[in-house]
Amino acid sequence: MKHLIAPSILAADFGKIHAEVEMLNNSEADWVHVDVMDGAFVPNISFGFPVIKAIKAVSKIPLDVHLMIEKPERYLKDFKEAGADILTVHAEACPHLHRTIQQIKELGMKAGVALNPHTNVDTIADVLEDLDLVCLMSVNPGFGGQKFIYNTIPKTKKLKGMIDERNANVQIEIDGGVGLQNAEKLLQAGARVLVAGSAVFKAEDPIGTISKLKSIGKDIVVV
Ligand code: DX5
Ligand code: ZN
Repeated sequence: MKHLIAPSILAADFGKIHAEVEMLNNSEADWVHVDVMDGAFVPNISFGFPVIKAIKAVSKIPLDVHLMIEKPERYLKDFKEAGADILTVHAEACPHLHRTIQQIKELGMKAGVALNPHTNVDTIADVLEDLDLVCLMSVNPGFGGQKFIYNTIPKTKKLKGMIDERNANVQIEIDGGVGLQNAEKLLQAGARVLVAGSAVFKAEDPIGTISKLKSIGKDIVVV
């Protein structure tokens, strides 16, 4: 099945957020990746509900909301109401991860779990079948524009093996430092969703870059 491209709005120009989302509507982007940071789980603060609602009001594609916040279970309903279609929480931020995943699904969203670069994929072995998405962080979360951590490639392969072994219906998303230079390798390793912030929004031709990311590995069979 064809891979998905999820441009990260964190790298957009917030002075013209409406136009940036319109640009995505006119591109081959599949999802808008929306990074929420609380200044506690990660050192940075990004934005909250009013901004997500403003993005939702314009977006014609699903909102892939990545919560880099402590105790995300406090706000699941609010993110649903703000417009999240896919809601991803960090395993490191959730002592009761299984319950949180169930609550996300009960609210009618797709459930994702993100793992920091140092977190082993075995951590989620016992909830894998409950998930729609696993987001492997290929940078330390908190900022856009960081360097891709190479260990993500073997990590993706290991996770893909675990998913195939169980025949689970879970997509692997890679987030951080992704661009034309490493997209093919990631798809070959088993990635299905590529998040790209700087690579898209800082490009001279964002729509063309999304199109290139989308057409990479056309003959790769990612199941
Ligand atoms: C990092 C965020 C990423 C980030 C990606 O904390 O979760 O989604 O926006 O940006 P780039 O593609 O610039 O690394
Ligand atoms: Zn993200």
